[in-house]
Amino acid sequence: MLELGDLEHNGVAIIDNVCSRAELIELAKSIGKIRTHPNGEDVFTLKSSDGRNSLPGTLSNIYGLSAFPFHTDTAFWGIPARYVVMGMFRKSQCTTNYISLSDIAGAVSRDFYAKAEQSIYLVETFEGCKYTSPVFSRNRVWGIRFDPNIMKPANGHAKKFHGELLAAMGAIQPKKVHWDGDKAVVFDNWKNLHSRSAVNNERREILRIYLEG
Ligand SMILES: [Fe+2]
Repeated sequence: MLELGDLEHNGVAIIDNVCSRAELIELAKSIGKIRTHPNGEDVFTLKSSDGRNSLPGTLSNIYGLSAFPFHTDTAFWGIPARYVVMGMFRKSQCTTNYISLSDIAGAVSRDFYAKAEQSIYLVETFEGCKYTSPVFSRNRVWGIRFDPNIMKPANGHAKKFHGELLAAMGAIQPKKVHWDGDKAVVFDNWKNLHSRSAVNNERREILRIYLEG
């Protein structure tokens, strides 16, 4: 069902003919171990909304139906979720967009990663705040975390890194996932930043599962 080569090589795999929540869970389990979100859910249903009833500080609360900025999911975890599995069975005009680290690498200075390693960010969520690095590694695989919604640069290196990353993302044409029904997408959340386009006149529901690194 899954072209794992695509996931390893491109950091993204798109799978057609995923028609149910059970099939999405089966797909997720074929890739890795499901990690429960702090809200207790294995499979979370993201519903587009104007944000008035969303948790404070969440993307829906801040941006409502407008486009979301590019981000890493679960950037506030010690090590963010390795893979994000998303599924949508109905059609939607609203795309999921993504930019890979290899695209970013082509648009930044040579000392970009040196700046990243010296960067300190303050992460603030409604649960609390802590300092963190935008780079991390586990089992010799490294990744980047970036969520401008909850991460603020806390030293000079981070300010430079932040500005350079935003400029690079502005210069890169993102790739798009078109949700045309019964489709699943798996992102390597350590190697891609993703976003959502604006939602127009539709009730969009997308299922999401997080997988361990
Ligand atoms: Fe996200």
